[in-house]
Amino acid sequence: MNNPFSNTIVFNELHLLRFPAEKAHYFLYYFLHLKLERMVSSMATLLFIAALMAASYSSFVAAESKGSFQDNFSIMWSEDHFKTSEDGQIWYLSLDKETGCGFQTKQKYRFGWFSMKLKLVGGDSAGVVTAYYMCTENGAGPTRDELDFEFLGNRTGQPYLIQTNVYKNGTGGREMRHMLWFDPTEDFHTYSILWNNHQIVFFVDRVPVRVLKNNGEENNFFPNEKPMYLFSSIWNADDWATRGGLEKTDWKRAPFVSTYKDFSVDGCQWEDPYPKCVSTTTKKWWDQYEAWHLSDSQKMDYAWVQRNIVIYDYCKDTERYPTLPAECSLSPWD
Ligand SMILES: *[C@@H]1O[C@H](CO)[C@@H](O)[C@H](O)[C@H]1NC(C)=O
Ligand SMILES: *[C@@H]1O[C@H](CO)[C@@H](O)[C@H](O)[C@H]1NC(C)=O
Ligand SMILES: *[C@@H]1O[C@H](CO)[C@@H](O)[C@H](O)[C@H]1NC(C)=O
Repeated sequence: MNNPFSNTIVFNELHLLRFPAEKAHYFLYYFLHLKLERMVSSMATLLFIAALMAASYSSFVAAESKGSFQDNFSIMWSEDHFKTSEDGQIWYLSLDKETGCGFQTKQKYRFGWFSMKLKLVGGDSAGVVTAYYMCTENGAGPTRDELDFEFLGNRTGQPYLIQTNVYKNGTGGREMRHMLWFDPTEDFHTYSILWNNHQIVFFVDRVPVRVLKNNGEENNFFPNEKPMYLFSSIWNADDWATRGGLEKTDWKRAPFVSTYKDFSVDGCQWEDPYPKCVSTTTKKWWDQYEAWHLSDSQKMDYAWVQRNIVIYDYCKDTERYPTLPAECSLSPWD
């Protein structure tokens, strides 16, 4: 064993990738960086709590550590497949042979930071998909906008994949797939979306894994006009999800349960009538310059992601798109 990283979680548990020696420094950088980020973010949490205690109002609206599910969410289908912990802070969605389950926010939002912690179905979860997404409507209408995180289950010990997608006006086909650098079934991890008029960034534990830039013109790829709800659901997708549908859901293992906590939104809550949440001012942090580009440290993380954990990128799929979609030429580094 002369690999300095052979005892990291990534190597031992996931066996996902072979990291060439010249990439090793990314790893080291990466883990140090994450540790630091964690320290910074726990400090930030403390400060945040202090601020909340000091002020009785705040533009940062969070349903963390207080409030209940009903304040901000409603069940979309199968009430009886949903339950919460005794204190109401942890939520469980389950899937069995009869049905899955889903919930959605009561409010719509346009732009901001949307975040939640999830712990995915463990063990043999092939065929099971947990989706966590934002959408302009409750349904798959022909003109919807949508931002998706989908977690594709797998056989015991085989890696979960995350698939992300973006729809504008009913058109998707913008899939990316990533491996994760941890086992998402062992513990809670944070999945977040930053959305403003300049970029949409998907984050996993504050690491940017996907960036979609706007081009500042009217276009058919960047959803920015319509407000969206936040949703989550669990369902059976064994016709496509795991190894392209080869691995079927093992119903003997049901119910399959995914777990949620710490929903937080720091964004503009939509109120009809339009216009609200317009970003012509820069009053909100997400409408300011820093939120329009990746920071230097986010760029380092994003470079690591691009090199090591991207499994599929529609922007590289020239068989599917002989002429690549327009957004594929916009640089995430700008
Ligand atoms: C959650 O619900 C409360 C009570 O209805 C509301 O005041 C708050 O704005 C909601 N939070 C979000 C993020 O929508
Ligand atoms: C959105 O899609 C609908 C239906 O496909 C189409 O009729 C409409 O022109 C589209 N709108 C825009 C702004 O592209
Ligand atoms: C499941 O595991 C297999 C075997 O390791 C892998 O090829 C596949 O990409 C994994 N994920 C999904 C969603 O199929």
